[in-house]
Amino acid sequence: MIYPATEENIGRAAAVIREGGLVAFPTETVYGLGADARNAVAVQRIFTAKGRPSFNPLIVHIAGTDALSAVAEIPSGASKAALSSLARFWPGPLTVILPKRAELPKVTTGGLSSVAVRVPGHQVARALIAAAGCPLAAPSANPSGLLSPTKAEHVAEPLGSKVDLILDGGPCQVGIESTIVSLLEFPPRILRHGKVTAEELEAALGIAPQVSAAESPVLAPGMMREHYAPRTPLSLWSEGEPIPSGRIGVILFGARERSPEAAAQTVTLTPRGDLEEAARELFAALHDLDKAGLDRILIERCPESGIGRAIMDRLRRAAHD
Ligand code: TXA
Ligand code: MG
Repeated sequence: MIYPATEENIGRAAAVIREGGLVAFPTETVYGLGADARNAVAVQRIFTAKGRPSFNPLIVHIAGTDALSAVAEIPSGASKAALSSLARFWPGPLTVILPKRAELPKVTTGGLSSVAVRVPGHQVARALIAAAGCPLAAPSANPSGLLSPTKAEHVAEPLGSKVDLILDGGPCQVGIESTIVSLLEFPPRILRHGKVTAEELEAALGIAPQVSAAESPVLAPGMMREHYAPRTPLSLWSEGEPIPSGRIGVILFGARERSPEAAAQTVTLTPRGDLEEAARELFAALHDLDKAGLDRILIERCPESGIGRAIMDRLRRAAHD
């Protein structure tokens, strides 16, 4: 079921995609659950496997900007210039929303007339798209609403029986999902924070992007509450706050002289205090603690600048109360 991502196995996975099957594959952000984006029946299998509501659109992964016009309408004017500016983040952890091409089945875009597109940077993802010869519709490879997968085993445990093949490319290097920017508006609007930060987007665009407030009406279904959640109750926590009774796991961002004594288990995401490292380790730490039979997981708040904004965005949605 889990195949190392060798050239031969990538070829095997590409054949599965061409036949309308499902392949889980590594990207630099998280593992994706891929199917031929043009094949409505195959794409429907993604929704079924994940238990994902049919109105929640998927991201279409392509090999490069040359392939963009096959799935999206290229905008004109200011949005066209913005697209050229943002394309410098490709291949990489950025997704843009554009008007969709009529040929792309509506099931792929959750019934919307726009499409989310990304050129992934991970070599295995790139090789798979090239070998399959089609755009890959791929949400994160987790059951709907649960933790995103950053290792092949995170996919195999909950979804192994529902996926035709899992390509193992090792742990994901970014560790949180791509930044999503809508080019349906100008200035472009950040729909989901990620590795590419608001500051980097502003520098590239030459204008500050709009940002959806956390409580604004749902623009991307991924912005709904209770996403990215472990099964164990999770609360945000700051040093000095009391630790509740019971078996409690604590996730810390930086090194401490002493771990919180009342905790049954403590994980430090980044002993050297590097938020990019914390992002890389975050979902694996949550997956591990979720399996540890704890009553509750407490996770420290981190500074909300740079990638810290994306981390806190995930944590607020994952927190149960
Ligand atoms: O890093 C990533 O983006 C990973 C890897 C596999 O590429 N994929 C990922 O997909 O995170 P998913 O499905 O878990 O999140 C995609 C988000 C969802 O919140 C979805 O609602 C939003 O993108 N989205 C997709 N198409 C959209 C559209 N046309 N308009 C607004 N939001 C859209
Ligand atoms: Mg997801």
